[in-house]
Amino acid sequence: MIILGIHDGHNASAAVFVEGNLTSAAGEERFSREKHHYGFPFKAVTAVLNDANLSLDDIDHVAMATKTLPPSYFKTRRNATFSIEDYWKEQKEYWYPKLYEGKFPSYTQIFRNHVDNTFFPYDESLIKNETDHEGMWAARVKHACKTLNITADKISVHDHHTCHAYYGYLTCPDAKTKELLVYTMDGGGDGCNGTVSIGRPGEPLEFVSRSSNCNIGRMYRYTTLLLGMRPADHEYKLMGLAAYNNMSNARKAYEVFAETLRVDGLGFNYQVEIEDHFFHFKERLEGLRFDAVAFGVQKRTEELLVEWIKNGVVKTGLQNVVMSGGVAQNIKANKLIWEQDGVESLFIPPGPGDESISIGAALAAIVEQGEIKSVEPVLNGYFGISYDDDAVRIAIKKYADSNSFEVEPMCCKKVAGYLAKGDVVARFDTKSMEFGARALGNRSIIADPRNPEVIHTINKLVKMRDFWMPFAPSILEERVDDYLINPKSIDARYMAIGLDSTELGKQHLAAGLHPFDRSARPQIVRKQDNEEYYDLISAFEAITGVGAVLNTSFNIHGEPIVCSPNDALDTFSRCGIKRLIIGDYLISKA
Ligand SMILES: [Fe+2]
Repeated sequence: MIILGIHDGHNASAAVFVEGNLTSAAGEERFSREKHHYGFPFKAVTAVLNDANLSLDDIDHVAMATKTLPPSYFKTRRNATFSIEDYWKEQKEYWYPKLYEGKFPSYTQIFRNHVDNTFFPYDESLIKNETDHEGMWAARVKHACKTLNITADKISVHDHHTCHAYYGYLTCPDAKTKELLVYTMDGGGDGCNGTVSIGRPGEPLEFVSRSSNCNIGRMYRYTTLLLGMRPADHEYKLMGLAAYNNMSNARKAYEVFAETLRVDGLGFNYQVEIEDHFFHFKERLEGLRFDAVAFGVQKRTEELLVEWIKNGVVKTGLQNVVMSGGVAQNIKANKLIWEQDGVESLFIPPGPGDESISIGAALAAIVEQGEIKSVEPVLNGYFGISYDDDAVRIAIKKYADSNSFEVEPMCCKKVAGYLAKGDVVARFDTKSMEFGARALGNRSIIADPRNPEVIHTINKLVKMRDFWMPFAPSILEERVDDYLINPKSIDARYMAIGLDSTELGKQHLAAGLHPFDRSARPQIVRKQDNEEYYDLISAFEAITGVGAVLNTSFNIHGEPIVCSPNDALDTFSRCGIKRLIIGDYLISKA
């Protein structure tokens, strides 16, 4: 059975399963080169099928994620095209009149500059108006049938949070051996924003709670906007900023958040009802310092998540927790969660936000077909795509004509030497691209993690990262205890979980820790997950004694992470980085 998973909302993606085995998955933004791509993932579908040596004719079933998506978001391609100003305009010109004045403004009229019908390949006659998600679903199915050359009876749709939950559950390394307590949490999808379920080996999930009041994500999202950053994108920047303040300075801001949402068993309610999650907070946070606001929302988020999860642990007696959905990217809260007594382990899959619900939809379809036992374990975060040596050589030739490059065979020892003397190196591995927004070595920029000066260098050369934001380290598995405090041996392979650093960690990883609290969101590198990357870090260790490198994603500020060899060479030629590992080659600028 070959199942194609499709997510056609924001952060669109495609995934293919062959006989229960995830052979390939990727986000459309990598191919379209448009961050947070909104709409059908044409290019990702082609790529995941090619990667699995399949064609459209081979597909037995198509599993789509999320039934209720409004036409207005497809028309404007909201998350992909909106600036920060647009999100403010959305609040002021759409939501305020709707919520506070009883009016019915037209979304597509307000954002008519974003509407381009060349990006709307759906049958308009099926859609009554811009909020008609039923009509939009009919149009999505019709479009999928035509594009994928398949009949409607072979298409299933899966509830948004069911997709999040199955993705977390069935990609967890313990799925076949332990009972898991699975949480989902996000800004919202299909009328829900938080679930709790139990995953027993070989059995479908048993949902014990579904909440539409788990508004942590919404509260965080609109606070992000209030601080002048992009919602559903820059929440991690607030999380980084929050560490610079404390309760004695930020109590007022904290109380604004603390007086509203609260945990109620396995769900949520409000001690003070609020009309909305933007204007309510805007009014009450006015005049408060930006870092106090960031502290307040982060602190309250941590409290709510910890209490919610502790309640689940107590109620079910299960101690192995899995979290999925956009809010599960809050590495600071995740740190507090795994530290709780009663929590034995915490697993966050790679790319737990909406980018992975194509995979979750395919898994939900497999479960519906009664084939859950056929699902193969997911071994690491490298879900695809791969490129051959020809693609690399063609790309090198193309860019070598207009740039002065020296090309030589890749040599770990040589690159380790460059890193040790302070060079910043981009790395592109042809074998298997990592999934999600965190680069795990195959689409990475790496450097010596000891010297904080290298942060400045990387920012100048390519990243332009916000000054308060930390970089992250990739650490050899055998060195974890030297550098990090991880008494529960938490699976921290995907840069999704925070850990404190040891004294040696503070020396060896100085540039890869949060500058203020010196915690890390590490990628622990195991040889069996990525042998070439492991060998490169080992070569660096042989020269320096440091079993880690600093790792940030291979992209220019504001662009998606590179995908193809061509993207790698293009980005390399446009930025200040002097060395690129690509496949079996090492390229140096003259
Ligand atoms: Fe979601």
